[in-house]
Amino acid sequence: MVIAEVADFREAARRRVPHFLFEYIDGGSYQQVTLGRNVEDLADVTLGQWVLRDVSEVDPSITLFGQRLSLPLVLAPVGLAGLNARRGEVQAARAANVAGVPLCLSTVSACTIEEVAAESGQPPWFQLYMLRDRGFVTAMLDRAKAASCPALVFTVDLPVPGARYRDRRSGLTGAPGLSGQLQRLGQALAKPGWCWDVGLRGRPLTLGNVAGVLGSSAPLSDFLGWLADNFDPAATWKDLEWVRSQWSGPLIVKGILHPDDARAALAAGADGIVVSNHGGRQLDGAMSAVKALPGIVDTVGGDLVVLADGGVRSGLDVLRYLSLGADAVLAGRPWVWALGSAGERGVAQLIAMLDAELRAAMALTGETRLAAGSGK
Ligand code: FNR
Repeated sequence: MVIAEVADFREAARRRVPHFLFEYIDGGSYQQVTLGRNVEDLADVTLGQWVLRDVSEVDPSITLFGQRLSLPLVLAPVGLAGLNARRGEVQAARAANVAGVPLCLSTVSACTIEEVAAESGQPPWFQLYMLRDRGFVTAMLDRAKAASCPALVFTVDLPVPGARYRDRRSGLTGAPGLSGQLQRLGQALAKPGWCWDVGLRGRPLTLGNVAGVLGSSAPLSDFLGWLADNFDPAATWKDLEWVRSQWSGPLIVKGILHPDDARAALAAGADGIVVSNHGGRQLDGAMSAVKALPGIVDTVGGDLVVLADGGVRSGLDVLRYLSLGADAVLAGRPWVWALGSAGERGVAQLIAMLDAELRAAMALTGETRLAAGSGK
């Protein structure tokens, strides 16, 4: 099908990947109110139009934590994203590295940190959850250090998982459960001519980074069960200080929606934050990220790198977040839809599309550069 805009990647992925996987990627929590707000409030941001300013050469590149980015975009950490294509996170990271934007690998990725670092040509950013098993957390930090991951994203908005009704209906969570889904998936993969293939043949499906805990032959359902039991609802700002003491590189706290929490992240030693409601997958009813952003920028904008995510579906949306003070944005679902629709090629096409749209948006607003070193 013709891919003209991000929504077309979504439709292409919907046609191609198994139903439960599409529902898992696409969905939000509860009634999906916050998921909708992220998109709608962002679309409501008005951009200023200026003319006759010589916009023949537009450069959307920025420097973020000492890294040169060809545009102010990071591929957001998305758990299970790698199931959308064979060795999916490796394919996505290759496309991202060629295009000059970072991919942030989730704790719960299908491919390991080491695999992505070795096979995509560059270590990814790494995203960490605070789990009860502190030995596991320490081991993950050590692995991220050993792989030379240039930045650590510490996600704090998942002390407990938000209810995802679409995952219940698809059978991913609750009876009959993921093992039933995987059985069906196995049957689907065995069908001749089936185009969706995550490389399961002959090897068990595991969550790469977690494989050391349960043994690499454990079924995926055991991994998900282990994870669900391991998110630590007792985590506090002290734990952030502890992570800070373990990680000397850039530390970015993801899941901030209030200026008070932004201040606390600064006090605990963070270098940056992501203003985010987890793509509307946690607290339904929470404010959209774009509405939360200005107050947070006013409070900590001079002291912290402020990133934001939720609802980015075009290059215009990137500029909308930047116009409200974000230094750069993350996008989650769009890259996973692109991966599900056409693997590495799809992700490359997506980034090129966002880049072209951002350049055009900059030209139409009369801007040729994003402020050096920040994206502001
Ligand atoms: C996520 N997100 C997420 N965040 C994180 O820190 N670790 C993770 O493992 C995941 N997993 C995850 C799975 C899926 C399916 C989605 C859609 C999202 C949140 C993600 O990083 C980001 O905040 C949102 O995706 C941003 O919203 P958009 O761009 O998807 O609208």
